[in-house]
Amino acid sequence: MKNRSLVSITDYSKQEILYLLDLARKFENNPVSNLLSGRVIASLFFEPSTRTRLSFESAVQRMGGGIIGFSDSNSSSVTKGETLRDTIRTVTNYSDLIVMRHPLEGSAKFASEVSTVPVVNAGDGANQHPTQTMLDLYSIYKTQGTLDGLEIALVGDLKYGRTVHSLLMAMAMFDTRFHFISHPKLQMPDEYKIYLKEKNIHFTESAEFNKKVDSADIIYMTRVQRERFSDPIEYEKTKDTYVLRSNMLQSTKPSMRILHPLPRVNEIHIEVDNDPRAYYFEQALNGVFARQAIIATILGVDHLVK
Ligand code: CP
Repeated sequence: MKNRSLVSITDYSKQEILYLLDLARKFENNPVSNLLSGRVIASLFFEPSTRTRLSFESAVQRMGGGIIGFSDSNSSSVTKGETLRDTIRTVTNYSDLIVMRHPLEGSAKFASEVSTVPVVNAGDGANQHPTQTMLDLYSIYKTQGTLDGLEIALVGDLKYGRTVHSLLMAMAMFDTRFHFISHPKLQMPDEYKIYLKEKNIHFTESAEFNKKVDSADIIYMTRVQRERFSDPIEYEKTKDTYVLRSNMLQSTKPSMRILHPLPRVNEIHIEVDNDPRAYYFEQALNGVFARQAIIATILGVDHLVK
């Protein structure tokens, strides 16, 4: 994994994912170090972010590294017409690793091809969000004690939600049963359903928040991604399809955990926050440890982690 870009979660094998999860556990036990002393990480966010950007920055700073970059491309020379190619080629001069979020699908792959330092995809349009998946896997492993043989209900915007696309591809390595629950206009894209069929992974599809969730080990809620809609009327029609409330959880398993990549709009009522099965804020914390593991491995200091 050393010096390799992370564009899609499928860039990692099952063994490599398990290795990173073990490393994340070590970072959770011992988050502060000087492993990245003298190293500089560039954080280029062409789209808004709270958790991904700040947890990456926290991860780097807890390992003694430096961080440069922008959280708003309007403050960069992109506003003067600079291309992504030229931006990346320039930033490679200043950094050892680039973390990039960009609204265009495929932008992370493109950046990795023009960069001389590894690029980590922090979300490319509606495509992939592999570091979110690493923290989701870490959260699932911590709460369920395994990644094998679980039932996962993916709820909400399965069309534009990049987190569910990456999570699906990762959990397909672990004999998972999926339930897709979405508005008919926001169904899981065919390419992901074909991906599962080729791997003989079971899934169901429904527009109803139904009994299927009672046997789920994980309910993964997602926000309807307003920024991906070309027609605001379509967003208005679909945005309130699912609002998770406490009374909808009555028959679910005590060991079940509710995950959400966040930000939340209104798809989980705040009354659910007090339910012991609500795990989304702990999930966001796990992002620091998962991202420490990814950075340390790419920069080749993982063997020094205690
Ligand atoms: N989960 C996630 O990507 O959140 P941000 O958009 O706040 O980074």
